[in-house]
Amino acid sequence: MTTLMPCVNNVEVATAFRTLVEARRAIRRFTAETVPDEVIQACLETAVLAPSSCNLQPWSFQVVRDPDLLQQLHGVCLGQSAAKAPLIIAVLARPDTWKAACADVLKFWPEPLVPQSIENFYRSIAPFQYNQGALGWLGLFKRLLISWTGIRRPVMRGPNSLEQMRLWAVKSTALAAQNLMLAFHSHGYGTCPMEGFDENRLRRILPIPKQAIPIMLLAVGVQSERAIYNPRLRFPLEQCVSWH
Ligand SMILES: Cc1cc2nc3c(=O)[nH]c(=O)nc-3n(C[C@H](O)[C@H](O)[C@H](O)COP(=O)(O)O)c2cc1C
Repeated sequence: MTTLMPCVNNVEVATAFRTLVEARRAIRRFTAETVPDEVIQACLETAVLAPSSCNLQPWSFQVVRDPDLLQQLHGVCLGQSAAKAPLIIAVLARPDTWKAACADVLKFWPEPLVPQSIENFYRSIAPFQYNQGALGWLGLFKRLLISWTGIRRPVMRGPNSLEQMRLWAVKSTALAAQNLMLAFHSHGYGTCPMEGFDENRLRRILPIPKQAIPIMLLAVGVQSERAIYNPRLRFPLEQCVSWH
């Protein structure tokens, strides 16, 4: 196994990474072959290595392998072919878990002693930052406070509403979802991220907490014939990049 030091310029690793990213495609047809639990476990472990805001890891995953549930999910995904997979993982953003996560950072701190600065941050600063109060009233108060203090100095302007908390959770969760897809690909399994599903019906089938946001259903399996519908298309880079 390659030992990779942080930020070391390693051409071999860079090439392998680019090859992996380039080879991942949206896979729309799968064989019936199941994905071993060890592979699923390893890929989930890789997924949660994604960075997250304040390391609060606002995500959860529901792994569906049960054939009856998969059959139902196919309907929930509007009958699309990608959803006819031997494994579907519901990727959920969790704007509702920040409080428990603050406690968990201190509980799972990877050293015998939690540094005082970390303790202060997760006991006082982060809870203030993420607590929007019932119905978001505290968020409103914080927005007013910030618009005042922000006149004189730079301030962090969000998340200060329940809606901004949803965006906050989705950002980090999307990074974990990409890790998950690349991890499956590295194990030889194809994936298709799907947002083409009926969220109301999904909630009737899986025990999704009320405040959790199912950002995508990830179909996973061994790619079958004609699994890739079209050649890769990306817009010219100049169209989406500006250099300053
Ligand atoms: C958030 C998101 C939702 C998507 N939803 C679907 C979907 O419901 N069904 C589907 O077949 N593909 C879906 N896709 C796959 C995209 O269509 C695909 O990634 C895109 O066409 C680019 O192709 P590539 O991934 O092979 O490069 C989705 C992708 C993303 C990121």
